[in-house]
Amino acid sequence: MANSTTVTDVSLETTFLGHKLSNPFMNASGVHCMTTKELDEMANSNAGAFITKSATSIERAGNPEPRYYSVPLGSINSMGLPNKGIDYYLEYVLKRQENFPNAGVIFFSVAGMSVDENIKLLQKIQDSSFSGVTELNLSCPNVPGKPQVAYDFELTKEILTKVFAFFKKPLGIKLPPFFDFAHFEIMSNILNQFPLTYVNSINSIGNGLYIDVESESVVIKPKNGFGGLGGEYVKPTALANVRAFYTRLNPNIKIIGTGGIRTGQDAFEHLLCGATLLQIGTELHKEGISIFDRVEKELKDIMAKKGYKSIDEFRGKLNSL
Ligand code: SIN
Repeated sequence: MANSTTVTDVSLETTFLGHKLSNPFMNASGVHCMTTKELDEMANSNAGAFITKSATSIERAGNPEPRYYSVPLGSINSMGLPNKGIDYYLEYVLKRQENFPNAGVIFFSVAGMSVDENIKLLQKIQDSSFSGVTELNLSCPNVPGKPQVAYDFELTKEILTKVFAFFKKPLGIKLPPFFDFAHFEIMSNILNQFPLTYVNSINSIGNGLYIDVESESVVIKPKNGFGGLGGEYVKPTALANVRAFYTRLNPNIKIIGTGGIRTGQDAFEHLLCGATLLQIGTELHKEGISIFDRVEKELKDIMAKKGYKSIDEFRGKLNSL
C-alpha cells in the first residue's frame, strides 16, 4: 500500500518530564547561551527548549583566544568554561519562569571545578525556586590541569552520591564519549544506582588537534592547539554512546543525544538510537538559530516519507542485522 502520510500529519511533539515540547531540539550548552540576549534568542526560537552555559560559582574569563575554530567537518574548541557565574544565569531563569510560566522546561547547566564546588552550585539551585531541570557537566575537557570527572568512575560515583543526598530537583548529567564496552558497562552500572532524569551524550571528543597546513600551525591558542572536537567528526561516536546508554540504563533515565546533528537525517539517527531530546552545538554556532527551522522541516520530511506521524513510533527502534 502506498504511504499516504504527508508532512502536515507529522508531529515532532515530545514529552519530557511531563512538559509538552513542540519538538525535541535545543542548543548544546556553550553555544548561543552565554548572555541573556543569546538566551532570549534561544527562548524565542523554534527550538523545543534551551539550556544555559555551564556556570561556575563566579564569573570566568575562560582560556585565551582564539579558542574556538570552525573547520570543514566540524569544530575544535578549548573555551575553558568562560561564563558569567551562577548568579547571572539563576537570576535569568527565575525571571523567565515567573514571566512565562507555561513556556516549557528550562535547562540549567553547572560545571564546578571540584566536588565541593559542584555541591555548592547544586545547593544554590536546590535552595532557589528554580523549577526546571539541572544539568551537571561532568565532561569539560578544556580546563588546563583539570581532568574531566566522568573518566574517573569512582569520582563520578562519589559526586552523585553526595549530590543525591540533598538534591531533590530533576537532575541530568553531561557525559564525555566512551569508546569501550567495558566503560559503557561500568558507567551504566553506576548511573543506574541514581534517580537521574537524563544522561546527555556526548560532550566533545576531547583533545583533538587540527592543523592549518598553510601556516604549519595549530588553529586555537590554549593547550598548544589541543581541543574538543564537535560536528560531523563526532556523529558516529555520539550515536554509539546514545545507543549504548539507551540499551543499558533504566528506562526512566532519558537520553539527550548530542553530537554531529547538522541535518534532519542526523536527528532521525539519534532518535532511532533512543534519544528523547536532541542538542545542537557546532552547527548552531555555524548557522545560527534558523537551523532549528531547517532541521525540523528536514526531520518531518523524512518521517512523512517513512509514514511516521510521531517520534514515538520509531524512537529507539534501531534494527540489528
Ligand atoms: C568549555 O567551556 O571549555 C566547553 C565546555 C565543555 O566542553 O563542557
